[in-house]
Amino acid sequence: MPDDRLITHLRHVDLAVPDFDKQVDFYTGLWGLSRVADDSGVVFLAAEGSPEQYIVRIRKDEQKRLDLIAFGVATPADADALAERLLAAGVQLITRPGAMDTPGGGYGFRFFDLDGRTVEISAGVEPRRHRKIEPRESIPVRLSHVVLNSPDAAATRDWYTRHLSFALSDTLAHPHLGEMMYFLRCNPQHHSLAIASGPHTSLHHASFELRGIDEYMFGTGRLLRAGIRKIWGPGRHLAGDNTFSYFADPHGNTVEYTTELEQLDEDAWHPHVYDFTQPEVSDQWGTANPIDEIIAQETFNEPDRGVFVPPPL
Ligand SMILES: [Fe+2]
Repeated sequence: MPDDRLITHLRHVDLAVPDFDKQVDFYTGLWGLSRVADDSGVVFLAAEGSPEQYIVRIRKDEQKRLDLIAFGVATPADADALAERLLAAGVQLITRPGAMDTPGGGYGFRFFDLDGRTVEISAGVEPRRHRKIEPRESIPVRLSHVVLNSPDAAATRDWYTRHLSFALSDTLAHPHLGEMMYFLRCNPQHHSLAIASGPHTSLHHASFELRGIDEYMFGTGRLLRAGIRKIWGPGRHLAGDNTFSYFADPHGNTVEYTTELEQLDEDAWHPHVYDFTQPEVSDQWGTANPIDEIIAQETFNEPDRGVFVPPPL
């Protein structure tokens, strides 16, 4: 692992949408998150199995956008150290480190990444009282990972490895189109973040971990029976060895149910480059629908309106 790593884990993904009620109903109903705090036009959603105060924030806005993605560091001093490091490297901070007024409090700051997404770093957030998810209980245990589209994915990968000390776990490549996705880790989990090559800056997907294979399949079936648009799956990827079922949320953001994402021995790990046109790379089980242009279009999402625009809260 990089010895200057300060980020410990992914905390939450924050979305803004026009049809607030529909979005909240989807995530609290079928998707299985719990509403923990409300403000006017903002709702914070937790996973019952996670100590995070919330893993998704939904904010009402006229325009759909990704508000931010949030990562944790161990201590307020680490937040200060990371802010200093970013400032020294010329990264544009949106806010300086200070007390936060979101659920659980804590100490944090925000900045723009290379593509203009807002990233939040925090420490000292009060843990949420959580519980063990029971066998066959098909609700998310926690947020697993977030994947971002970037017009220059290699440059964004380099930015996250240089400034935030993410490590490259694996790469997906196409024989003619070149490298298409970079899996990045900030702890032994194979990836907490991935950067996909896309036509514009946008959210590719957010992934939620279920308890195990059985719970993942029950959850997948619940979404299918409810008529939620399935984009791809069910299947099991080679990179990360995790299962996948991708669905569209009411605003066309792709969300994933996953489980059994690989934990690496970081000292021994050597990154692979996988040819994702090989069926066993994208879908080891052979159960998913074939990759087609519709899947690609869905995961490109719309160009994000939040590029270099900080969210209002
Ligand atoms: Fe994923």
